Amino acid sequence: MLSLLLTAFALGVASGATELFDRNLAYSSPFVGAPHLSHNTRALQARHVEYAKRQLSDTESSEGFKDEHYPTFYGGDFSNSPWVYSGGINFTHSGEHGDPFDNSVLLWTRAVPKGAVLPDQSIPVCVSFKIFDNAKLSGRPIDSGDAFTSYDVDFTLKVEAQNLNPDTHYWFQFADCTNPKTVSPVGMTRTIASPNTPAHQVNGGKPLTFAVFSCSRYQDGYFNAYGVAAHNTSTDFFVHLGDYIYESLGSGAAIGRKTLGRELATIADYRQRLNQYRTDVSLVAAHVKAPWITDDHEVADQAWKAGTANSNDTTVGCSFSPSGACFTDRKLAAVRAYHEWMPIRQVDPDDKLRIWRNFQIGKLLDLTMLDTRQYDRDITDLYYNTVINSIADVNNRSLMGTNQESWFFDTLSASKKRDAIWRIVGQQIVFTQLNESGAFDVDAWDGYRANRARILDHLYSEKIDNTIILSGDSHANWVSDLAHPNDTTTYDFITGKGAIGVEFAGTAVTSTSAFGAGILPAAADKISQVLVQVNTDLQWSEGSYRGFFTLTLNTTTAMATYYAMRNVSTPNLDAFASATFVVEAGANKLARPVAGGKVNAGVLKVQL
Ligand SMILES: *[C@@H]1O[C@H](CO)[C@@H](O)[C@H](O)[C@H]1NC(C)=O
Ligand SMILES: *[C@@H]1O[C@H](CO)[C@@H](O)[C@H](O)[C@H]1NC(C)=O
Ligand SMILES: *[C@@H]1O[C@H](CO)[C@@H](O)[C@H](O)[C@H]1NC(C)=O
Ligand SMILES: *[C@@H]1O[C@H](CO)[C@@H](O)[C@H](O)[C@H]1NC(C)=O
Ligand SMILES: *[C@@H]1O[C@H](CO)[C@@H](O)[C@H](O)[C@H]1NC(C)=O
Ligand SMILES: *[C@@H]1O[C@H](CO)[C@@H](O)[C@H](O)[C@H]1NC(C)=O
Ligand SMILES: *[C@@H]1O[C@H](CO)[C@@H](O)[C@H](O)[C@H]1NC(C)=O
Ligand SMILES: *[C@@H]1O[C@H](CO)[C@@H](O)[C@H](O)[C@H]1NC(C)=O
Repeated sequence: MLSLLLTAFALGVASGATELFDRNLAYSSPFVGAPHLSHNTRALQARHVEYAKRQLSDTESSEGFKDEHYPTFYGGDFSNSPWVYSGGINFTHSGEHGDPFDNSVLLWTRAVPKGAVLPDQSIPVCVSFKIFDNAKLSGRPIDSGDAFTSYDVDFTLKVEAQNLNPDTHYWFQFADCTNPKTVSPVGMTRTIASPNTPAHQVNGGKPLTFAVFSCSRYQDGYFNAYGVAAHNTSTDFFVHLGDYIYESLGSGAAIGRKTLGRELATIADYRQRLNQYRTDVSLVAAHVKAPWITDDHEVADQAWKAGTANSNDTTVGCSFSPSGACFTDRKLAAVRAYHEWMPIRQVDPDDKLRIWRNFQIGKLLDLTMLDTRQYDRDITDLYYNTVINSIADVNNRSLMGTNQESWFFDTLSASKKRDAIWRIVGQQIVFTQLNESGAFDVDAWDGYRANRARILDHLYSEKIDNTIILSGDSHANWVSDLAHPNDTTTYDFITGKGAIGVEFAGTAVTSTSAFGAGILPAAADKISQVLVQVNTDLQWSEGSYRGFFTLTLNTTTAMATYYAMRNVSTPNLDAFASATFVVEAGANKLARPVAGGKVNAGVLKVQL
């Protein structure tokens, strides 16, 4: 028996058997192919084998080591790695899922060894997954497999379920390999249509709905917006545009929302924060309900490529936090934890920070997700620097970086060329020029005007129709026609003639209003009155309510519905639709009268 096992190990080592580690995509976080920045699964496997050898030595066993949790035999072909934890698994979070393609989707869970004392860190936890085409999980699974997780990746597990059919719903479940009776809750997920599916056949001919979110700060309130989207709308996909977590602490204790830990700097900090956020029942419901598509690495406030508001790689920056972490270390920690905890794909192993990517959803739309935060952004407003206003116009200043910018233009053009009806662009910050009480937010596109102009030029000159930009970040609602700022020659703000698309910018899930924390609707509307007057392209402004919006697409119409939460200081599903906007295919502007001429909150530019 002993020698047989040793032979098995020898074979395993010789063939570099790391499949069970490699199948868990969390080990390639953050950067697959960069050994110093991802986990070396060969080393993990070697460590594992070393442990097994130790367990087999007489000296160790006469010392009385407890082996009951580490069986020498695992049913099925487990010859590569017979030593796994069998003391019981706690699926601490629900089965989550994201980044659907037409033939695969990412499945996520977290499998923590049960018991007060964690097992020897060399011991992996083995998790199996199965995905079925029916809710009863009956018949043969469409895909299944085993994968390891361990403390190295905070016991997260991310696998790609493959061989799926386009535009189809699936049900999945995780289990403890060593005790298949221990299972995770069943999750339901889905794929997207294949690129060539005719537009009217996408989603079985039913309209497709995206729920769009940004800015959920735990200490500011309960994530009711996620819950309303999950329970009260027919959302097919959740899109998150950034500030999914916050690095700060704040005073949430009064509403039972005390943030754990400290200001985020290290990998342990970021993991703890993601873990805590994922205990909010509304967020859990939203992750369970439908696949998520996200696009921000979540480092810290006012991030740009070489720093954030309170961290950079200078001596000063390194001492910002109790940990003394520098910006680069902080960013790597953030990115690593993000890839462990979020059901997101790593797009390009050779382009380390890249998460900008495109989803071709039949001929109905392209969903293009940009990274306007972490990828290659030139310096932004850091509160203490005053230079940004004066350089906002500089031609060579970039928000996206050259690679992403040219890819974006190619993607827009390719989308038009392949006759996709809609081009939906998810990105973090408000695109439209906004004079806010005499100032521009130069952390938004207003600080990168040449880059914005190049995008508008591309849309106009290539005659690219039906572009809708989705934005977050600003903690208020803004709906605008897309046109060059100040251009009242081409663009008529009354009729919308001359616009080249639409921007839907959404308010925060909880983060306090840009108009003032806790501002009441009447006071916010006074501010909005001025905003819609002084800003040419802006058609609706609303600044009191926390919330989200949905975007529903069919072949002829895009409809955005904004939802306002009545109260985020308790967990509840109390909300109302504050406004609904229509964009007709081919019109490239908000349909008139804007919002049907009637809104339940906020202020329209022209009230008919
Ligand atoms: C399982 O995890 C949940 C969530 O973290 C926790 O509340 C519970 O106490 C854990 N159960 C065990 C047996 O460890
Ligand atoms: C680094 O950040 C600190 C504030 O945290 C700031 O005072 C300092 O000027 C920054 N250095 C650079 C080079 O940006
Ligand atoms: C832009 O050009 C100016 C002047 O040529 C140069 O000083 C600056 O470094 C450039 N900025 C960027 C972001 O490339
Ligand atoms: C910006 O808005 C303010 C009102 O808040 C107004 O006084 C000012 O003229 C506006 N500036 C421009 C350039 O439109
Ligand atoms: C639009 O006009 C205002 C007021 O003159 C100016 O501050 C702003 O820079 C202009 N925007 C662009 C993009 O030229
Ligand atoms: C698309 O949706 C709009 C709004 O709900 C509806 O009026 C229109 O008839 C739909 N178009 C098609 C082709 O179903
Ligand atoms: C929200 O509800 C809580 C608890 O009922 C209440 O104390 C608070 O005043 C409410 N806040 C608002 C803005 O209505
Ligand atoms: C959402 O659904 C729940 C029941 O699941 C209901 O109690 C709540 O009032 C609904 N909220 C809205 C905004 O419709």
